[in-house]
Amino acid sequence: MSARSTSDAPASDAPWWRHGVVYQVYIRSFADGNGDGTGDLAGLRSRLGYLQRLGVDAVWITPWYASPMVDGGYDVADYRTIDPRFGTLDEAERLIAEAHQLGIRVIADLVPNHTSERHSWFREAIASPPGHPSRDRYHIRDGRGPDGSEPPNDWTSTFGGPAWTRLADGQWYLHLFAPEQPDLNWENPEVMAEFLDIQRFWLDRGIDGFRVDVAHGLVKDPTFSDLGPEHLEVLATVHPANHRHWDRDGVHEIVRGWRRLIDEYDDRMLVAEAWVTPDRLRLYTRPDEYHQAFSFSLLESEWDADELRSVIAEGVTVAVPNGSTPTWVLSNHDVMREATRYGLPKGTNWRMWPVTGPVEALDEELGRRRARAAALLLLGLPGSAYLYQGEELGLPEVWDLPTEALDDPVWERSDHAQRGRDGSRVPLPWESTGPSYGFGSNGGWLPQPAGWSALAASAQAEDADSTLSLYREAIALRRRLGTADEAIELLDLGRDVVAYRRGTGLTCVVNLGTSPVALPAHDRVLLRSEPGGPDDPSGPDGALEPDTAIWLM
Ligand code: BGC
Repeated sequence: MSARSTSDAPASDAPWWRHGVVYQVYIRSFADGNGDGTGDLAGLRSRLGYLQRLGVDAVWITPWYASPMVDGGYDVADYRTIDPRFGTLDEAERLIAEAHQLGIRVIADLVPNHTSERHSWFREAIASPPGHPSRDRYHIRDGRGPDGSEPPNDWTSTFGGPAWTRLADGQWYLHLFAPEQPDLNWENPEVMAEFLDIQRFWLDRGIDGFRVDVAHGLVKDPTFSDLGPEHLEVLATVHPANHRHWDRDGVHEIVRGWRRLIDEYDDRMLVAEAWVTPDRLRLYTRPDEYHQAFSFSLLESEWDADELRSVIAEGVTVAVPNGSTPTWVLSNHDVMREATRYGLPKGTNWRMWPVTGPVEALDEELGRRRARAAALLLLGLPGSAYLYQGEELGLPEVWDLPTEALDDPVWERSDHAQRGRDGSRVPLPWESTGPSYGFGSNGGWLPQPAGWSALAASAQAEDADSTLSLYREAIALRRRLGTADEAIELLDLGRDVVAYRRGTGLTCVVNLGTSPVALPAHDRVLLRSEPGGPDDPSGPDGALEPDTAIWLM
């Protein structure tokens, strides 16, 4: 691919992903090119200039494959076809080429834990009698009880309800997610062969890497024994080691096979989505496994200096000894957006809050301010940073979508105990006016709230103090300063302050307390999360206001 102009960045031979800023495109909600209400490749292609201007090194595109969209495309019916709602294979190839022209890498989403129930393998399996070899590609088993009418065990689905559904012939199949997402059996060699072939298919088309969905879920305990009455699956939370179906040692053998394939190509990468404990996460990035694995600790952390300091130290110590890099995430399409999360009182369970309330607990302005500070915290850290679309616009969670609009299976499967993830998936506002704020020429597949005009990308682009301008400046500075190495020195500036210094000379200070804090000695202020004012901290006596961050040199 043609290289982005990096003439002002210090030279580095490191592979791009080690320090890259990766922008997650949730394709259904990014930009709608054909006016059908769903984001698509045409929309994404038309906005590549925006992403280049933002300064990102890569995009990760959530599943774009043919899918019934029961789980937003994470139910794949054909891994080698683009869903017609998103475009065509030809368009995907054009997108990859155009992104490369602009110096932007393209990461695809690989979904190996399960297929859609519409996948030809599953159709074949359920059309075949028990014992037929096609059934062995999935976990299809007899039930319990005298007539087999009870599920094979007590495992539950992450979306709620049992993890087993009964077939017409009386057998049961396993689905850790929705019933429309049957789990594949990775003990079957055909599954490995197929996924190597799928990866080759996309690598040959220029894909720069894969974000691997549910990387910690592929292997199941062959005894299929019960988990016991206490267990409860919660989506997008850390799972214990060597659980009956999470984070089992066998998953590592699988990724080693993929890595051998990836290494046949130049400069490609694998990033794991593995919700596991930090001491287990380090196993995923051993030199012959994933290049990197998301550290979700930052995303899970409260707005609390102690907690953030230890999360930062841990993220570095988990990744670096293996030769990987810390891989930071503040939000994604599975969690509440941080501008809302940080506006809730400490200790609030933000997964439940949209249902349990109380509504008055939310301080939107505080959340907005903290999210901007968190952006500087994130973008100054060593390693790579994954941004979720709309984060750069400071979008809040739309936690009060009308229930009839909710699409995430979590809402129904949890018996309405959780609203699910739609609130972070609302179509992006591009323009201040017009239908769906420029998302497309019609409405979007989820309604956007009134009052998003000021958050539109076009409005923010004109405003030097906007969140978009803050992200643009921070990413440009990050590029200009270079990334040095993964070294980071945590500075002690008081109990409520997170501060660190990098080998590049960058010092980042974040005030999480309730009163201003004095800044350490510095030559210059590079950037601050809130525009200057009477309390402008750039003067020699400047102090940093609560819930703000600053970059110093
Ligand atoms: C994805 C989710 C998806 C699930 C099942 C996750 O980890 O990020 O959006 O629902 O995997 O594929």
